[in-house]
Amino acid sequence: MDPVLVTGGCGFIGSNFIRYLLTTDPEISVINFDQLTYAGNLANLADLADHPRYRFVHGDIADRTAVRRVVSAGVRAILNFAAESHVDRSIHDSSPFIRTNVLGTQVLLDAAREFGVPRFLQVSTDEVYGSLGETGLFTEETPLAPNSPYSASKAAGDLLVRSYVHTFKLPAVITRCSNNYGPYQFPEKLIPLFITNLLADQPVPVYGDGLNVRDWIHVRDHCAALDLVWRHGRVGEVYNIGGRCEKTNLELTYTLLDILNKPRSLIRFVKDRPGHDRRYAIDCSKIERELGWRPRIPFIEGLRETVQWYIDHPEWVASIRTGEYLRYYEKQYGRLAC
Ligand code: NAD
Ligand code: TYD
Repeated sequence: MDPVLVTGGCGFIGSNFIRYLLTTDPEISVINFDQLTYAGNLANLADLADHPRYRFVHGDIADRTAVRRVVSAGVRAILNFAAESHVDRSIHDSSPFIRTNVLGTQVLLDAAREFGVPRFLQVSTDEVYGSLGETGLFTEETPLAPNSPYSASKAAGDLLVRSYVHTFKLPAVITRCSNNYGPYQFPEKLIPLFITNLLADQPVPVYGDGLNVRDWIHVRDHCAALDLVWRHGRVGEVYNIGGRCEKTNLELTYTLLDILNKPRSLIRFVKDRPGHDRRYAIDCSKIERELGWRPRIPFIEGLRETVQWYIDHPEWVASIRTGEYLRYYEKQYGRLAC
């Protein structure tokens, strides 16, 4: 059988997903197509680099020639994880977000259409729905109201997918998940940044009043949901995925300090993120009802396991903190990752 094409497989969720696929499905083979930006780390899949059913291809999803080359050889699905994914970076410079999240999605959709790929999964985010007040949940019918350049670029990608389903009958599905945590997350996002700072006895920057709410899900629960959706989701449908686990940033910070036995004096309240969404919370009853999925990893267990993972992988953290992995890419690929 043809391989599945996973884009962005060297990132946090993509690498967890490839590991999930190769360990749960003895028949599947995977091509990981990744540009190796600052967020892509070959070390995330180092243990699988020589796996007989795994192949890495270095490439940019916005590069039509490179994408056509890999898709024309035959793939049974395109699972699109590749993205610029950090809100703060999108506030600083939105250009790479438009290129990858919008143009890149278009290039993948065109290739899927041209070569008749039987399945397309767009891995998206609850952030496309904007921000909630103190009550209510995002459903699949909530209107799109993205507030950051990141979420706007993801919403644009989602709408392109929708249009290709409608206009060209492309067999695509979209997922929108809440905030993930777990091993291999790049230490610029809240949880890994705070864990790695605390391990080094450095302060942790809490934006604004720390009362913004996120709905946390362990990355393995997300991977299990994605695996069901790309195989069994109904064409043209959107599936929300969430952890049913709302926490304020401050609550979460206190929990991390407690797990690591560090003092609250390490908290620094800093200037708020511009346009900072107040609350995200997901109604995931549709995927529960239709595909029998539910989040299984209790938050405190998942968080303790995640903290332990960062404790157990000091070389992984150090390579990122010193930029060593980028120097390797420069040597290997003749350029600095962006
Ligand atoms: P990440 O930033 O950790 O990884 C992104 C990966 O994409 C990296 O390996 C990077 O090298 C690769 N990439 C970037 N631009 C590329 C390009 N032009 N061509 C090929 N590869 C490219 O991101 P993540 O947290 O793993 O998120 C994966 C997907 O899930 C994204 O689409 C994101 O929007 C979505 N998502 C993330 C979360 C979350 O909490 N992290 C929640 C919901 C949805
Ligand atoms: P983040 O991990 O960047 O995810 P997102 O913005 O996509 O939800 O941030 C999670 C929450 O934590 C968000 O409300 C912003 C906040 N935050 C901080 O307070 N300090 C930080 O240093 C970071 C990175 C985030």
